[in-house]
This record gives sequence, structure tokens and C-alpha cells, in this order.
Amino acid sequence: MKIKTFKVERWMNDYEDDAVYNLGETCIDSLTIGELLELGGYSPDEYLKSLKDTRLTYSYIFGSPEFKSGVASLYNNIKPEHVIPTHGATGANAMVLETLIEPGDNMISVMPTYQQHYSIPEAIGAEVRILQLTAENGYLPDIDELRKLVDDNTKMITVNNPNNPTGSWIPEESMKQIAEVAASVDAYLLSDEVYRGISEDGEYMYSVTDLYDKGISVGSMSKIFSLAGLRMGWIATRDEDALNEILERRDYNTISCGVIDDKLASIALANKEKIFARNREILHKNREILDQWVQETPEVHYVRPVAGTTALVYYDADIPSYELCVRLIKEKGLLFTPGEAFEMEGAVRIGYAFDSKLLRQGLDIFAEFLKEIKEK
Ligand SMILES: Cc1ncc(COP(=O)(O)O)c(C=O)c1O
Repeated sequence: MKIKTFKVERWMNDYEDDAVYNLGETCIDSLTIGELLELGGYSPDEYLKSLKDTRLTYSYIFGSPEFKSGVASLYNNIKPEHVIPTHGATGANAMVLETLIEPGDNMISVMPTYQQHYSIPEAIGAEVRILQLTAENGYLPDIDELRKLVDDNTKMITVNNPNNPTGSWIPEESMKQIAEVAASVDAYLLSDEVYRGISEDGEYMYSVTDLYDKGISVGSMSKIFSLAGLRMGWIATRDEDALNEILERRDYNTISCGVIDDKLASIALANKEKIFARNREILHKNREILDQWVQETPEVHYVRPVAGTTALVYYDADIPSYELCVRLIKEKGLLFTPGEAFEMEGAVRIGYAFDSKLLRQGLDIFAEFLKEIKEK
């Protein structure tokens, strides 16, 4: 199966190690093992010593009870048996798409989004219909447009909520309408919810699984739990057919997840409120820093992100985003992600959930750079 280059991942692979100011990062300031254990109330030394007795078997094939109930606790109506552990959200998206989409189907993906959602179906031989998100619409799906895109051969609609790169969040009423459109053609609705869970006001953020029986949620430990190195993710759905088909597929490409990864993820899930409190503070503070900088900088504009960890920032300079980002990393050590990696030219994606000081410094360097190239 031939597949297109995964632009955003290739960009990060090529340049992330060179970054002094890493504003390409999308995880909220990652935790060390020691920090995680301390947050969970363990003595790191004692816990790590006790790990040596862990037998490295395949362990729980379908995930430990602690992991599955921990994931279920992130949802209103998901039970542990509705949860399938995967190798990150990347593994989850791939498994859902490769299991449920077949050659000759059509499916609808929002754009911009995480490239798996359109490039995997395309590689399978499905027809991909794009629902373009625009700044004018606050990067929210146009439901009338969506209605025109579906037909009886539509197998799936896929969204990314909160959205990477724009930081938009689909209001619950709109998601209900999207679910109605999906139901009208009996299609699955896959929602990549890897950035879901830390709201601005601390309230529960709905999931697609709350709204639609054929809703499939994908999540992971990478972003809001700050634990990308665990490579633990999951699929959650109440749809029995999808669960069974995906489990059949999983025997071929996963068997089980890592036993140590599962243990550490379970600790994080059991202590989610503490991790979310830490991370909510980082998000609030850094969103403000970014917003203030955008207001002060006439050379840029954006739609203020309301969720997630990234923003799509448009710049006023006549230079393609890829070239701009290569120059920034090579000349200034500043890492953004080119909008072009999301098929959004004239913009850069800024990941703002990392270190506040580096964020402010990086943004100032970018403002200077834009002034310099304008003066030339
Ligand atoms: C929307 C989205 N989905 C999935 C992933 C993959 O996450 P994971 O680290 O859990 O594989 C990412 C990572 O950037 C993402 O932004």
C-alpha cells in the first residue's frame, strides 16, 4: 500500500533536534518518570526498584483493568469493555481507518487535520471528500456543506476535535448536527480527541461517544497527559461491530501494548486531576502570552485558539511557509511547523504549551525576523 509522505511528522523528524526554541511541540511540557510518580504519590526510587520484578510477558492483551477503567473515567458513557488500547493515537487512527474503510468507499475528512485522516483512506483506495475549515467560520465545520458531501456510499466522517493546528473546538450542538448527518447515511463518525480533556473552565468536555452510537473517539497519553514517550493511546466506542472488527485487526498489528507503558499510564489516569491542574495552568498562561503577542504584532493575525495546544498564525510576508520555517530553524534555532504541512499556505503552526519563557522569546524572534524580511 503506497502512501503519501506524512508532512508534519517528516518535518518534525528532520528539524526537531535542532530547535533552541521548540514551538513545534504539541505536547504540554512533558513529564519525567520521576515527576509522574511523585504526582501519583509514589517514592520514585521505591517504585522503580519494585519494577524489576515485573515479568516482561505480553501481559494483558486487551489492556490492564486499571488502564481501561482509567480511560473510561474520561468519558460519560464509556465502559472499560468499550476501550481498545493502542500504540498512541497514531496507532488508534490507523487501526480505525484501516479496519473500517474499504476501496471504493467514500469518506469525509475536515481540512486542516492530522494527515492520517485523509492520507490513509486515500492509500486504501477510498474517495476522500474534503470539508474545508476556514478562518471566517472560526475553523468550524459548515454543516450545510457537509450535508452536500455525504451520500449512501459514505462510510465515515472524520473530525479532529479540538483541532490541530487551529485550536478550534466544535460546540456540542454542532457536533450533534454532524452526528445527524452521519446517521442519515449510517456512517461512522471518528473524532480524533487527542487534545480533549482540559477545558478553559474546568468543565467536562463532551466526546463524540456521548452523542452518537456509531461515534468513535481516539485519545492518548501524549498531549494532555504530557506522556508521549509512553506511546499509549486508545479507541473508545460503544459500537459492537466496530469494536469486534478492530479487535480482529489488532491481532495482526499490535497484540498488546507495553506492560511498563500500561502501568505508568494507569498511574497518570488515576491522578488525572493533578496532571490536568498542572497543565491547565500552563495552557492558560501560554495562551495569554501568545494572544498578547499576536495583538502587539501587526505582521501576524489568527483566530484565537480555545482548546488544544496549537494555533495557526498567518504572517504578512511574501514567502512560502516551508521556506520561512527552514530559515527560522537554520538561522535562529526557532522551530514552527509550516502551514503547508496542513495544506494551509501563508501560515505557521505554533505549539504554545511548552515553556513560557522560550515561547515569549521565540515569538519575539519571529516578530523581528518578519520585520527584517519586510525591510529588505
Ligand atoms: C490530532 C492528532 N492525532 C494524533 C496524534 C498522534 O498522537 P500520539 O502521540 O498519541 O500517537 C497527534 C500528534 O501530533 C495529533 O496531533
